[in-house]
Amino acid sequence: MLTGRQRNIRLACACIALGAVLLGNWPQAGRADEWKDGPDTYNRVCSYCHETGVGPKITGRHLPAAYVQAIVRNGYKAMPAFRPSEIDDRILGELAQYMSNTEDQ
Ligand code: HEC
Repeated sequence: MLTGRQRNIRLACACIALGAVLLGNWPQAGRADEWKDGPDTYNRVCSYCHETGVGPKITGRHLPAAYVQAIVRNGYKAMPAFRPSEIDDRILGELAQYMSNTEDQ
């Protein structure tokens, strides 16, 4: 059995560790506000891989918006996942809508 004092020390340690994890992510927290709209996000984030041959072409394929959202949030094999702190839900919605409507150039 742990004494009350030991338990308090354990709790304090857990809080410090959690705080460190949260603080570690802080610099990225502002990134969700960085993107203006769907096309802006595609041009500045997705095109980095999807216009350079690193990832498959995703424009002009009428990919379903829900599919794009799921892949962006969860990742898929070599495709990295993006957290809401990186691309928030509003921007992701606009991005997915944009992706599903792009035509082949
Ligand atoms: C770091 C590189 C990288 C970035 C940045 C990236 N992707 Fe990807 N993406 C990939 C790769 C690589 C794949 C192929 C995964 C596989 O099959 O292994 C992929 C696959 C996908 C697929 C599935 C394509 C298919 O043919 O079914 C979608 C949809 C997708 N990405 C959307 C996006 C969107 C939207 C963004 C911008 C928010 C984005 N990706 C940013 C690398 C990237």
